[in-house]
Amino acid sequence: MGSLSIDNDELGVNDVMTIVNHLLPGSSDNRRYVTAGGALSTGKYGSYDVVVRDVRPMKEEYTLETKGFELASCPTQCEDLWDMATIERDYFPELVAHIKKRTGADIVFCHMPRLRQSGKDPNNRDVQPVAGDVHVDVNEDTARNLAGKWLHDQGMGDLKYSRLLFLSNWRVLSDPPQDYPLGLLDPDTLSDEDGVYNYLIACPTIPSAPYPPIPPPGPLEEGLVDARQIATEERLIGAGYAFHHKPSYRWVYYADMTTDELLSFKLCDTDHSSPWRVPHTAFLNDRPGTVPRRSLEVRTYCIFK
Ligand SMILES: [Fe+2]
Repeated sequence: MGSLSIDNDELGVNDVMTIVNHLLPGSSDNRRYVTAGGALSTGKYGSYDVVVRDVRPMKEEYTLETKGFELASCPTQCEDLWDMATIERDYFPELVAHIKKRTGADIVFCHMPRLRQSGKDPNNRDVQPVAGDVHVDVNEDTARNLAGKWLHDQGMGDLKYSRLLFLSNWRVLSDPPQDYPLGLLDPDTLSDEDGVYNYLIACPTIPSAPYPPIPPPGPLEEGLVDARQIATEERLIGAGYAFHHKPSYRWVYYADMTTDELLSFKLCDTDHSSPWRVPHTAFLNDRPGTVPRRSLEVRTYCIFK
């Protein structure tokens, strides 16, 4: 959709001309229903031509404070990160230590590890396909609600905090160059008004149109609910953002990420004095020699008293 007139001379050696899926104009009822074995998005999406610039050469300029995302050298001691038990037992503590040191947050906890690979493995329910459209996973109400549920579970339901920072921490688990890297929208080109809510609803079976009313958010007492759990009734997990295309958007990525690197980016920061959310999506890098992408992402909630 649309056409880009980019001279090859204007492209850096690792910049990629590709397509990225955005919400189409007029797509007004945006929901994602998930069941134990499937999912349905009611939003209507279309492909738009974009250039994704490699910002690895400018790595030091891109930080959580300046852009809402950063790439860090962060080798892991874990031998097998393609295993959920290892992730939750051994990787979570490593990540908490790293993020606590980096952010200075008083409380950090991990939630919702996701293994992904390009071309989903139907035999492994722990593995998801790569993200297919531009999104931010949570809005501020959802971030506060999820953090509140965790605090309630820990017996800290009355804790008042001054700031909640919700990060996604992403690393590749396959060698570079990967076929579907993670693209990030430069928040300098994003307005606070951009994006529309996209509701995530867990349900026993996928409904059909006309869709029922969106259920209310569950109480804090129900604790953190993972959308992968089998739902016996429709449950609102939360809402994130979907985005319409804007020609002024600038897309970036880090070429040739390695397993020793960690890409952290903001899903929500209640402090809006610097970039507070980073839209993102996978995109096809069709240069010769790429390998299927495998990746792990873990969300960390950073609570400042
Ligand atoms: Fe995401």
